[in-house]
Amino acid sequence: MSDRLYIFDTTLRDGEQSPGCSMNIDEKMRVAHALSALGVDVIEAGFPIASPGDFEAVHRIASEIHGPKIAGLARAAERDIARAGEAVKPAGDNGRIHTFIATSPIHMEAKLRMTPDQVVERAVVAVKQARSLAPEVEFSAEDAGRSEIDFLCRIVESVITAGARVINIPDTVGYMTPDEFGWRIRSLIERVPNSDQAIFSVHCHNDLGLAVANSLAAIENGARQVECTINGLGERAGNASLEEIVMIMKTRSDRYDINTGIDTTKIVPTSKLVSQITGMPIQPNKAIVGANAFAHESGIHQDGVLKHKKTYEIMTPESVGWSTNRMVLGKHSGRAALKSRYVELGVELDDERLIVVFERFKKLADKKKDIFDEDLMSILSDDSGIDHERVKLLNLHAASGTNDTPVAAVELEIEGQRHKATAEGDGPVDAAFKAIKSLVEPNGKLLLYAVNAITAGTDAQGEVTVRLQDGDRIVNGQGSDTDIVVASAKALIAALNKLPNMHAREVHAQYSGV
Ligand code: KIV
Ligand code: ZN
Repeated sequence: MSDRLYIFDTTLRDGEQSPGCSMNIDEKMRVAHALSALGVDVIEAGFPIASPGDFEAVHRIASEIHGPKIAGLARAAERDIARAGEAVKPAGDNGRIHTFIATSPIHMEAKLRMTPDQVVERAVVAVKQARSLAPEVEFSAEDAGRSEIDFLCRIVESVITAGARVINIPDTVGYMTPDEFGWRIRSLIERVPNSDQAIFSVHCHNDLGLAVANSLAAIENGARQVECTINGLGERAGNASLEEIVMIMKTRSDRYDINTGIDTTKIVPTSKLVSQITGMPIQPNKAIVGANAFAHESGIHQDGVLKHKKTYEIMTPESVGWSTNRMVLGKHSGRAALKSRYVELGVELDDERLIVVFERFKKLADKKKDIFDEDLMSILSDDSGIDHERVKLLNLHAASGTNDTPVAAVELEIEGQRHKATAEGDGPVDAAFKAIKSLVEPNGKLLLYAVNAITAGTDAQGEVTVRLQDGDRIVNGQGSDTDIVVASAKALIAALNKLPNMHAREVHAQYSGV
């Protein structure tokens, strides 16, 4: 009988720690629903002690998502664990507290300023406390990749005795090579006397591009949980990518004979959703989910694929959710058809959200004859103009030409009041941004402006991502429209709406510079 590999998704925790990738609670809920439909075994929903927003997100995910286990992260500290316990409580039997402490000499000495004995004692106390608050406890030895193996064996044995049933071995700084890491996992399983009472897990970072290779080496040596993220998001160079691990297990079942519970046809829609929400584009040549992952350019390859797909394709695009059903809906399609297409794309819409999305769909269908899956995913992320937003775009007019100075006039509704401004700029997008920014404060520093054509053709929607910084807060906004200036304005407004103290500027004379 083949073995089972548990997929622990940490997109909402480690993934969210990628610079500029923070998500608001509604965005986290959408990702959590998609992960649940994808079939992950565990969703690490956040780090409850980090902020009230993080706590609320974990608590809501634990209340609303049924199926996967819901984990909350906690340092090996009493307050962290109590907060994580409270946050995952609504998940009942599916709640998990994931507690960690560093075990490498450099972390214990320089960061924790604790002796190895103190670290073991703290870990045991933490696991016992966590065990009293949640049905399942996972323990992580942070920086295990650079920890001494004898010490790792000692702490792992102690925390299993204290009640941890999942032991996670992170390569926190992405330093390991596959053979070293595989050996580490094998040694732990063989040397720790009570290792049979726990599932061994790994959590690999990608600093040297080895996160997936190291995870595979760990699986080959007995690990049966892998921590990973959609699109490989995560601290610095990211974590092992979920889609790569899962598709390796499936495509090379001849070598691994290990199953995951993932519905692989939902991989691409989930990847796109995460990319749109975080504003983190997917590189075109990214394995599995990149736009070119199944594109055959050279004549020899095209000829081979036409004769027999398997000449150059080791898996089918449909098996990972690339749609062959290119044109899906048009302006005569009804609400039920829209809802059912979203279900096929892995997105469940409740009635309230369906009304909003259907309205956007109709507006788009008026402008654009063919509505593709990519368009549907994009209107989902376009949150400009929804009712609870403080700033809404009412009107935008932009003009530019080869011999004219670009100019834009905008009308916004800011907390119920209408405001207008005009501005000139270096192009119509710049002019529109200046006009919008003249009406609100704070208006953030522009860190990223990215445009992507969602489908082919000159009537394609442009999808714009804007990243703004205000103090230590970084927010993303997305907007899409067949008019690129409108898409840009929507993206800027969506980002501004995420700045908590943003309000109408008191006096707004003509704006003259950003
Ligand atoms: O990279 C790491 O060590 C972590 C732990 C908290 C699991 O993210
Ligand atoms: Zn990590």
